[in-house]
Amino acid sequence: MDFETRAIHEGQEPDPATGSVIPPIYQTSTYIHEEVGKHKGYVYSRSANPTRTALETCLASLEGATHGFAFASGMGATTTVMQLVNPGDRTVCVNDVYGGTYRLFSKVLEPKGYGFAYPGVDDVAGAIDEQTTLVWLETPTNPMMNVVDIRAVSEAAHAVGALVVVDNTFATPYLQRPLELGADIVVHSTTKYLGGHSDVIGGFAGTSDPSIAERLGFLQNSLGAVPGPFDSWLVLRGLKTLAVRMDRHCANARRIAEWLEGHPAVSLVRYPGLASHPHHEVARAQMSDFGGMISFEVAGGKDAALTVLRETELWLLAESLGGVESLIEQPAAMTHASTADSPFPVPENLIRLSVGIESADDLLADLEQALAKAPAAARAS
Ligand SMILES: Cc1ncc(COP(=O)(O)O)c(C=O)c1O
Repeated sequence: MDFETRAIHEGQEPDPATGSVIPPIYQTSTYIHEEVGKHKGYVYSRSANPTRTALETCLASLEGATHGFAFASGMGATTTVMQLVNPGDRTVCVNDVYGGTYRLFSKVLEPKGYGFAYPGVDDVAGAIDEQTTLVWLETPTNPMMNVVDIRAVSEAAHAVGALVVVDNTFATPYLQRPLELGADIVVHSTTKYLGGHSDVIGGFAGTSDPSIAERLGFLQNSLGAVPGPFDSWLVLRGLKTLAVRMDRHCANARRIAEWLEGHPAVSLVRYPGLASHPHHEVARAQMSDFGGMISFEVAGGKDAALTVLRETELWLLAESLGGVESLIEQPAAMTHASTADSPFPVPENLIRLSVGIESADDLLADLEQALAKAPAAARAS
């Protein structure tokens, strides 16, 4: 079955007890045993819960994974996956990742003796050596919108027996399926496009390798960073409309990126769908469309960027992304403040847009009036 059909039906048979078309929210912590050792497959909701199972089954199918594991947050998924490596192991992580991922790696794991290397986006394959056990990719990256060649990096990693993990939050499985490109594990912050409505925090990890799946299932239960049934249900509901939402996110973003590229107050637009993007060809090869995230640099510098952020009305000044409503933010001071002391700080004049599914005309009009207020002298620079 096609993606759109699986998004609505996979793992979601009508409830056998009542015929409910929508999977119920099984708000229970425990399950009756008929006798010791005899039960219906559910024992305790940290280990498994039917609403969570429906989400895990559906999202695994969308990623082309045989096994899926839901988590209480994207960071819960990342933390759990990172338990696949041990102190002394070397992880190669592309040098442009979500600030919270970098914080976990540099401030929690590194001090415990885990090794990390942070190569540039074009140098990841070259940084993989015999000591490397895991490669962590994000693509497109947050917030610089770089694109990493998943297939090329996977080949280099597998040559030394290293695992490849791809954070697919920005693209979603509708636009990019890392496992089909050679990655071993795909992770998500389901808080974003998969939930889609800015009303839930969640995470996911999927794989088609049975031994990784067995270990991840063990770790999911052992570490316990699992989502509750209501949060699982919200993400599952979000998946049903993922395809139509993503089509609109992509169409709106393309129009806005092209418009920004011609604006005199904008010095650089980072959107993989633009022919000017340095990784446009790789993006075309591994993505079916280019997503709803855009970053751009304001010609007048930090103050001009802050003016734009202050002046938009429809674009809401907020962290996070992937919801139906458009958001605007300054990564350097907001989502990526935790990378300030890193070897890869983000420019202070960078604005990140999460393009929603409102009318593109309204979104453009609001950006236009805000950019017009950016300091004029700076605009000319
Ligand atoms: C690309 C990416 N990965 C992971 C995360 C972490 O997800 P969560 O906030 O659900 O823990 C985020 C959060 O912004 C993100 O943008």
